[in-house]
Amino acid sequence: MNEANTAAPTPGDLERAEQDKMIEDNLGRIRRKIMVMSGKGGVGKSTVATYLSLLLSRNGKKVGLLDVDLHGPSIPRLMNIQGGLDMHEEGVVRPYSFSDNLSVVSLEMVLGDKDTAVIWRGPLKISAIRQFISDIDWGDLDYLIVDSPPGTGDEPLTVAQTIPDAEALIITTPQEISLADVRKSINFCKQVNMKITGVVENMSGFGCPHCGKKISIFGSGGGKVMARQMDVPFLGQIPLDSQMVEMGDKGKLDVLTEKAGLEINKVYEKIVNRIVKG
Ligand SMILES: Nc1ncnc2c1ncn2[C@@H]1O[C@H](COP(=O)(O)OP(=O)(O)O)[C@@H](O)[C@H]1O
Ligand SMILES: [Mg+2]
Repeated sequence: MNEANTAAPTPGDLERAEQDKMIEDNLGRIRRKIMVMSGKGGVGKSTVATYLSLLLSRNGKKVGLLDVDLHGPSIPRLMNIQGGLDMHEEGVVRPYSFSDNLSVVSLEMVLGDKDTAVIWRGPLKISAIRQFISDIDWGDLDYLIVDSPPGTGDEPLTVAQTIPDAEALIITTPQEISLADVRKSINFCKQVNMKITGVVENMSGFGCPHCGKKISIFGSGGGKVMARQMDVPFLGQIPLDSQMVEMGDKGKLDVLTEKAGLEINKVYEKIVNRIVKG
């Protein structure tokens, strides 16, 4: 007989089971969980995760934004968040409240110093991400948007294993070098049985501010073709816009979402509608 099967549960086993239960309870109060992924860094994942969270929350949805990019958390900078988690009530940890409808959690809120490099081993990452879900009282949410680091490493895998009904929103830029890696992200989702909400092509073309003509700096349309080839939904093309960089750097993406008539906002509106329809 296998001894391991008959041994009494260790304190570690019990703790894990208790945490599993807390995770299940907390996730039960969240309707949709969407992880933003990409093959490469710098394609706009954190920007898209932030923008979507802002737009959904402005449309009246209750949204949580969770930053699991443990090596390079960028959500607090993009949203100009200086504060930390809300621990006013004894025994309860609540996310940072950005607005009535939008709450945010990032590792940076726990660590404090923005410029510290944290050295993470795999098991520590897994445990940090699990605690972000088990120990934080997210409340009732329509959407939990999870911003992840590029690739298919510990962080997205932990999210996939901890949140059984997580969906993936995959961001790519139009050029082949980004598309090649995104195919891996799609195959990762298929392997772990994660539903793919769709692919977004970011930095897709640039409207010349002088003549208005569209210039395809990184090419255009590659994401759409790839999505069709891999049989996943294509949600839209977000153009390059220098205001996105400027407002992102200033932590003012919320102001940008409110500017009427901007091409990026029109495109985002369509993408949000497609995501909401699911
Ligand atoms: N549509 C866009 N137009 C112009 N710049 C963008 C756009 N999307 C993202 N960026 C910029 O690209 C850089 C990388 O974006 P970020 O969201 O940090 O990428 P990732 O999270 O994938 O590493 C940032 O400076 C951001 O402002
Ligand atoms: Mg990022």
